Amino acid sequence: MAFLTHHICRGLSSSAVRHVVIKNVTIIGGGQMGAGIAQVAASTGHAVTLVDTNEDILKKAVKGIEGNLKRVVKKKFADKPEAGEEFIGKAMQNVSTSTDAGSVVQGTDLVLEAIVENLKVKQDLFGGLDKLAPAHTIFASNTSSLSITDIASSTNRLDRFGGLHFFNPVPVMRLVEVIATSSTSQETFDSLLNFSKMLGKTTVSCKDTPGFMVNRLLLPYILDAVRMYERGDGSKEDIDIAMKLGCGYPMGPFELSDYVGLDTMKFIMDGWSAANPDNPMFAQSEVLNKLVSEGKFGKKTGEGFYKYK
Ligand code: CAA
Ligand code: NAD
Repeated sequence: MAFLTHHICRGLSSSAVRHVVIKNVTIIGGGQMGAGIAQVAASTGHAVTLVDTNEDILKKAVKGIEGNLKRVVKKKFADKPEAGEEFIGKAMQNVSTSTDAGSVVQGTDLVLEAIVENLKVKQDLFGGLDKLAPAHTIFASNTSSLSITDIASSTNRLDRFGGLHFFNPVPVMRLVEVIATSSTSQETFDSLLNFSKMLGKTTVSCKDTPGFMVNRLLLPYILDAVRMYERGDGSKEDIDIAMKLGCGYPMGPFELSDYVGLDTMKFIMDGWSAANPDNPMFAQSEVLNKLVSEGKFGKKTGEGFYKYK
């Protein structure tokens, strides 16, 4: 493989497209998604800087990554505990943290955000970092429901901007949706595909349409379940059992909502119902709104549709 610069390589086949080899990754947002992506990237040999708004969140994220790596090692190195320890040590060495994204993007190949599902906040973040990151750096969003084109519009690197949509829990779920806008260059798209594959994920190529593939199908299903419960057509426990045993889903819709986070679910719903006010598929849910207004975001806060210890 001939290197054109230390960042750009060309594959062996003459039809191969150039792509940036992503080695140094800045992940903004150390919540459930950011920490999960950091875990997988670090354990596949990438240098990861995890960024969040305060040290406490970052400490919790790093502790969570170490705990989850122990789960992985228990299975992967069941008969070789020393190799397991070495694997964890190497992965943890690849993780550093910061509360100042601007100061760490200088040496990064990819800035991937997994912060709150809010267009303005994501635009402000990328708009600021666009002035500080090197020219070759690719920007990507892990948004569940927002338009990548809209997020990218606050930057001057539309060709080096795409979507990388991971699934929760990131270390377990095997898919990444890779999203190209009409401005994303082929080189950027191939770099994002290649990076996802280096993380051991299977990719699907998506257009920049609301919810991409998975959430465009998953969210209406979950919301229909919530409406069924609101109408009193079934208890949430029974609906969950029905979908687990009737369809073989690992979680029912209420368990899954709590797992995703009801705050994130509401952000998605609010965006889609504002854009489609006449579509009953995206109508507001009183139950969801009430739980979120009470700070009951699901598993991450200890209560959502269900209570957690
Ligand atoms: N890190 C590493 N390993 C983990 C892990 C983590 N964070 N979480 C779970 N695991 C591993 C466990 O070690 C376990 O491995 P073994 O079976 O080999 O021992 C395995 O995953 C299963 O975990 P558990 O035994 O703890 O629990 P479970 O069997 O109940 O499975 C689950 C948990 C994997 C979450 C499963 O219930 C599941 O697949 N649920 C559906 C998740 C889903 O649909 N995710 C997509 C949500 S939508 C989304 O993400 C998009 C969006 O934008 C909103
Ligand atoms: P989360 O609430 O667990 O974590 C978000 C983190 O971002 C928090 O730690 C918060 O402090 C931090 N943050 C917020 N604004 C920030 C800023 N300006 N700078 C730095 N850090 C900031 O949320 P999550 O579930 O990890 O979701 C994050 C993103 O990933 C959202 O866009 C969501 O839609 C998307 N997503 C979520 C899921 C899921 O199942 N939860 C799945 C795929 C994609």
